[in-house]
Amino acid sequence: MVKAAVIGDPIQHSLSPDIFGFLARERPTIELNYEARNISSLDLEKFLQTVLAEKSWIGLNVTIPHKESVLKFAKQISDSVRIIGAANVLQFKEQEIYAYNTDVIGIQESLNRAAVPLAEASVLILGAGGAARAAIYACASMGASEIKILNRTVSRAQSLVQEFKNAFGKIDFSVVSENLNSWQPDLIIQTTSVGMSTGASDLTYENLYKEIFKNAKKKAVAFDLVYRPESTLFLKKASTQGLAVIGGLWMLIEQALATWEIWFGPIPDKSILSEKLQFFLRERLRAHP
Ligand code: ATR
Repeated sequence: MVKAAVIGDPIQHSLSPDIFGFLARERPTIELNYEARNISSLDLEKFLQTVLAEKSWIGLNVTIPHKESVLKFAKQISDSVRIIGAANVLQFKEQEIYAYNTDVIGIQESLNRAAVPLAEASVLILGAGGAARAAIYACASMGASEIKILNRTVSRAQSLVQEFKNAFGKIDFSVVSENLNSWQPDLIIQTTSVGMSTGASDLTYENLYKEIFKNAKKKAVAFDLVYRPESTLFLKKASTQGLAVIGGLWMLIEQALATWEIWFGPIPDKSILSEKLQFFLRERLRAHP
């Protein structure tokens, strides 16, 4: 029996136990016991020591508020974790911790799946939080040449630009306001919690979305990292303007598969499994929107 868990505080809304329960049923050769654990910041270090000592643990999914604080316990961190400053997957090997960021992999795989060409692309990122950092890293490492960031709090976007300029010197980073003039992005990624069923309403952004999509190139793509609801106002407005759209469900699926591969190695029939997981999650989200 191999053990794993998602840790956070709070944790009750996490879909991870459902997702990994599904994957474990699909892969019965791996006997996985996966659970959600509410771990406070004060208890984090002790919890990590306990699970490392119990050799049956393979790793953890990590969510708020531990994505940054787990780093100080890791023996090795991936490049994306180093630049983003946050990890969401831990792997335990020989009682040491290895830290990864599957937000980045989830975004990259979603873009690959939709065959979005990133080489020399101009990208607009909406938001400047943790999800935006993952999106910027993903696009920068896939060859984008220009990345503009639009955020409610301009100073946050400015510090992101500064940080990423240092990490990716060749890319043209800048902050934009809601007035985009005639700039035409190839890809727009919505990374904020606006429009999420548990977050702020997106109606105030209706005009901004119109403005962005009106300017976008004909072949531009709109990608919303929000998966609840499946079709956000951002995606609806993009479709109306004739853009191709990618919903957040794919990121969730690709992230889960990436976690599985970190823990257990390559999945041979990945495309079949991802379709099955998509079907499972759609049902799950319909039943509990
Ligand atoms: P995450 O890690 O999920 O990205 P975060 O770091 O809290 O979460 O970032 C949330 C993002 O959503 C930020 O870009 C935030 O904008 P601010 O930097 O101005 O706070 C954005 N966001 C959240 N609620 C918002 C709202 N009501 N209107 C506009 N932007 C909002």
